[in-house]
Amino acid sequence: MINIALREYPDLRFICGDMRELDIDHTFDSVIITGRSFSYLTEDNEVNDTLRGINNILRKNGILIFDNFNSYKIFEDITEITEQKIELENKTITRQNRSVRSEKNPHLWEWEATYIVEKGGKKQEYKDRATLRAFGSDELINLLIDTI
Ligand SMILES: C[S@@+](CC[C@H](N)C(=O)[O-])C[C@H]1O[C@@H](n2cnc3c(N)ncnc32)[C@H](O)[C@@H]1O
Repeated sequence: MINIALREYPDLRFICGDMRELDIDHTFDSVIITGRSFSYLTEDNEVNDTLRGINNILRKNGILIFDNFNSYKIFEDITEITEQKIELENKTITRQNRSVRSEKNPHLWEWEATYIVEKGGKKQEYKDRATLRAFGSDELINLLIDTI
């Protein structure tokens, strides 16, 4: 992804790192955590470390923007298997998703995706797995208050 970003915007600076261990000697007007990356912070201490790190680099009146899964909603319609398909540059890419709610922690689920890339009669398969977390709004507010 960094290589793609650099190709698209060669004049910008991109750093690859772990958001739980932000160590940047610079301050910013905004911080954006995109594409449900926040949901990979499955433990409270990981959320706290991330938010504290962000608080250190955000200027006064700076803005933090992030998305996540709403635990009041996501578990209502979490289904066993879903599928998406797109056509891109002579390729057909199919993603099959499987989500299984954790028995140990009601906020977590195991997500597994199989990507099937078809091009010119050839098929390649890739797997992506992660443990993800959904947050309730009260819980999120408390986590945010704890870190500022
Ligand atoms: C669903 S992908 C979204 C990718 C991309 N941000 C986008 O918007 O298309 C979630 C990404 O979060 C990354 N991620 C998970 N934990 C992270 C962490 N502690 N620090 C930085 N990135 C993390 C994963 O590697 C994965 O690439």
